[in-house]
Amino acid sequence: MKKVVSILLVLSLVFSLSACSGGDKDSSSSEPAASSPSDEKIVIRVGTATELDSHYALGAQEFEKKVEEYTDGKVDVQIFPSGQLGNERDMIEGLSLGTLEMVVSSTGPLPNFSKDFQVFDLPFLITDREKAYEVMDGEIGQQILATLEPLGIKALGFWENGFRNVSNNKQEIVTPDDIAGKKIRTMENPIHISTFQQLKAIPTPMAWSEVFTALQQGTIDGQENPLVVFNSNKLYEAQKYLSLTGHVYSPAVMLISQSAFDSYPKEVQDAIVKAEKEARTWEREYCIKMDNELVDTIKSYGVTVTEVDKSLWQEACQPVYDQYADEINQDYVNALKGN
Ligand code: PAF
Repeated sequence: MKKVVSILLVLSLVFSLSACSGGDKDSSSSEPAASSPSDEKIVIRVGTATELDSHYALGAQEFEKKVEEYTDGKVDVQIFPSGQLGNERDMIEGLSLGTLEMVVSSTGPLPNFSKDFQVFDLPFLITDREKAYEVMDGEIGQQILATLEPLGIKALGFWENGFRNVSNNKQEIVTPDDIAGKKIRTMENPIHISTFQQLKAIPTPMAWSEVFTALQQGTIDGQENPLVVFNSNKLYEAQKYLSLTGHVYSPAVMLISQSAFDSYPKEVQDAIVKAEKEARTWEREYCIKMDNELVDTIKSYGVTVTEVDKSLWQEACQPVYDQYADEINQDYVNALKGN
């Protein structure tokens, strides 16, 4: 009896192995393989400069879940965090060239592609994120996003990076005088550079991928980024002081290569648009939640976190408005500015 059972087991194993390896291809038949291009999965790569547990990559994972659900698994969204596909500017160029499908990026590099995005770089312009969401999701926001179209980039929506705060290793920074002479890494963005010049710091623009090492090695004294970035990139391991300057609200954007988007069937395009909207809401809520929690978390890592009188900082940054007045659409400024 035992022998019969063993033979049956061996036979069933042989049968299932041949079924797996042979798949649906019948080598003895001249029929074409059962799979056709329309059965092949559409692979969409999404790049982020930030870590896998960052706001962008978590939001992208929400997007992935939704798109895969809405397309019954026809689409395979693959997320590449930590700048694996390049820094933000490189990835945006990749969309334009059609060598990458999607990216979640801060708006920091976008003035290099469209000057309309410069408005977001003005210090202390946006003080109320809810009001900013309204404008960004409304007519003005859509007008700004549409300026990327001639570059072959479809901007799906504004996400959040957050209110940027200065950190450094030299001393507690309370007033603008305290930042004078400090080497602060900024994004490669002219208005951010001008702002830190106004503050008499030494702005040191560099790609995000180089920042952690530069902080550790002391080639720069500090940097400025939202709390979610400070935390997910473990900057508390390389920075002693964090000042809650909130000097600029930094939106993010989810972008897709227009050529990739146009190549997808209508139902996949619809799924992408729907999923982005839902992931955007999720990501914004996540950022708000983290902003509320992270001061305590960051303090628990031994970082000195300092509240500042923002009005002093705002005053010190004011000349930047005159400097860029001719370059920035004042309707955008008026719509976005806080009270
Ligand atoms: O500082 C930057 O370059 C950006 O804020 C970052 C961290 C890449 C997120 O967009």
